[in-house]
Amino acid sequence: MDIETLKQQAGEKAVMLAVKPGMIIGLGTGSTAVYATRKIGQLWQAGALPGIVGVPTSEATAVEAARFGIPLGTLDTYPMIDVVIDGADEIDPEFNLIKGLGGALLREKIVATASKRMVVVADARKQVALLGTRAPVPVEVIRFAVRPCTDYLASLGARVEKRLSPDGQSYLTDENNYILDCHFDGIPDPATLAQAIRQQPGVVEHGLFLGLATDVILSASGGIQILSRPISNIV
Ligand code: A5P
Repeated sequence: MDIETLKQQAGEKAVMLAVKPGMIIGLGTGSTAVYATRKIGQLWQAGALPGIVGVPTSEATAVEAARFGIPLGTLDTYPMIDVVIDGADEIDPEFNLIKGLGGALLREKIVATASKRMVVVADARKQVALLGTRAPVPVEVIRFAVRPCTDYLASLGARVEKRLSPDGQSYLTDENNYILDCHFDGIPDPATLAQAIRQQPGVVEHGLFLGLATDVILSASGGIQILSRPISNIV
């Protein structure tokens, strides 16, 4: 089965399991979460999800949702979200995540934190025994602070790369910040690293999502796995 089909299966399964009429729904970002947004859009258009409101986690997702006419809102009006469906770059056995290779980690973390439930959708390649072995940790920094932030993150043991757009220009987030991709070759203690990253002025947010995911829907050629958060990680 090709990877696109796996992503689609995970995204659509999450909608079928977690989305109900009248819900405030966080709409995730990325090539897997987009299938959830499209499914919600199709169900909305078919009249099967009356009363829903979507809160997009990026400008790109807002555009996609608007294509289907999904009613959209913001956290100003809807500060509490019933469920967010979003992708991930890595998922560890405790449901800790690395997110942000799509660049939307800041709004994604704000929406996930405001959500009663976070359903992560991914193909099974994203499962890792240890965070940081497959993906870098993206760190969003204000442009003014890029040099001190780079030096600080390197002092924490990271190989730091400033993210570039395909045209070679510095990548800019929806909030007009830079992203520093931090390669760690394995993160044995994500909570301590997360705390350390936060110490540096100029860091806006990082892509370690700890204790936020409640459910994971993983799709592989053998079938779909629906997992709930291990008890040890319920906060
Ligand atoms: C977007 O900023 C990211 O957090 C994505 O959710 C994550 O990178 C997974 O994206 P894909 O589903 O495209 O792999």
